[in-house]
Amino acid sequence: MQLEITEQDQSFAEGIYRMFKQKPGSQHIAGSFAISCLSAILRQNKPENILEFGAGIGTMTYAILDHEHQVKQVTVTEANDFCIEQLKKNLTKSHLQKLDLHSDDNSKHLISGDFDLVIFDGNVEAEDFRHLREGTVCMVEGFREKTRNAINQELQKSGLICNFKNYASDRKQYFAFGWKKTGLGFKRPKFKLVKHDKGCWIGQVEKL
Ligand SMILES: C[S@@+](CC[C@H](N)C(=O)[O-])C[C@H]1O[C@@H](n2cnc3c(N)ncnc32)[C@H](O)[C@@H]1O
Repeated sequence: MQLEITEQDQSFAEGIYRMFKQKPGSQHIAGSFAISCLSAILRQNKPENILEFGAGIGTMTYAILDHEHQVKQVTVTEANDFCIEQLKKNLTKSHLQKLDLHSDDNSKHLISGDFDLVIFDGNVEAEDFRHLREGTVCMVEGFREKTRNAINQELQKSGLICNFKNYASDRKQYFAFGWKKTGLGFKRPKFKLVKHDKGCWIGQVEKL
């Protein structure tokens, strides 16, 4: 599958990223580029049922539920109590009506059915891959090579494969320059390394 990320996807993503960056516990939220990829998937593939592993404080969940493409339901898993509390605060009443939250690892076995889009942004185990079928779009946020390999090991048992493609922003690693005040009131130059976005990995499950 080939994703076309538009300016509309980028500005939608930037707005959500900026809003969530201000919220408590925002250290591990999905980056703006990953959210723009998610927006492109929603626009192009129009998934109805979505499963997200590792909802955190809800950045990606919010993006799905607030997108102009209206999904039927979003099933999410989150094990951290602080994140669950923030997730509920960060979503609107109408968002919450479409949310099926599995708040601890013990209730994951209750998730049933196949999904059109599965997002991997937290801890997963082999049994979580039972929700994948031919045609499911998989989105793996960040590098997570182990998760991608585990997905394909499990899929191969059923004669399936997911050919992941890396999508990364073209922003390269660079040094940002600024000034820092010393204790004596002098200014000294300050360099900060701005790292290259790790991007995300996206593919669609198909026959081997
Ligand atoms: C990469 S984060 C998930 C981010 C989420 N998908 C989002 O875009 O907001 C993966 C996991 O880290 C944990 N986590 C994230 N933020 C945390 C926080 N502020 N405090 C404790 N755990 C956190 C949660 O268990 C979460 O499932």
